[in-house]
Amino acid sequence: MLTLEKNIDTFVEKFLIVPEKIWQPTDFLPNSQSDTFIEEIKEIREISKELDDDFWTALVGDTITEEALPTYESWLLDVEGISQTSNNGGDNGWAKWIRAWTSEENRHGDVLNKYIYMSGRVNMREVEITTQHLIADGMDIGTGRDPYKNFVYTSFQELATYISHNNVAKIARKSGHTLLAKMSKIIAGDEMRHHLAYTEFVK
Ligand SMILES: [Fe+2]
Ligand SMILES: [Fe+2]
Repeated sequence: MLTLEKNIDTFVEKFLIVPEKIWQPTDFLPNSQSDTFIEEIKEIREISKELDDDFWTALVGDTITEEALPTYESWLLDVEGISQTSNNGGDNGWAKWIRAWTSEENRHGDVLNKYIYMSGRVNMREVEITTQHLIADGMDIGTGRDPYKNFVYTSFQELATYISHNNVAKIARKSGHTLLAKMSKIIAGDEMRHHLAYTEFVK
């Protein structure tokens, strides 16, 4: 971890993207400052009726998973070699990586939550209760604080979310949901970059 930490800036540069240059949720959602906002939402509500329960169940699962981000950030900050501060009191390189990674991930739950809310097909209160439970319960993935095991885990986890968001994109595109397809595809793209980063750490 100490060896890799020396190259954190290079990793951040290579695998992560700054807020001004990366997509933001509003790029894929109706613009609430526009006069056509209500019309655009109506259209989403209409086409959303065509997608079946299995589809919405998968999308809600993906959303809740992304929304439990506070759990993932606090878990990663506890991995051996990662700490909020370095021994000399300055910034710990790994903390910088975790914060930048979290800042990218935060956009996923944000955009998905807004979309399923607008769709009119989902009982949002149940989703919100589930998310609150998930965060309150925490998790134990069985890797302890071992950085090697944890990064093997995150390598697979990022790949798994890539596959899931990408499958949503495929189904959405097939049924003519261009906006949702684009959105899921671009989230999948983020997950692939993260997967490549964690794979490189493990290597
Ligand atoms: Fe994500
Ligand atoms: Fe991710």
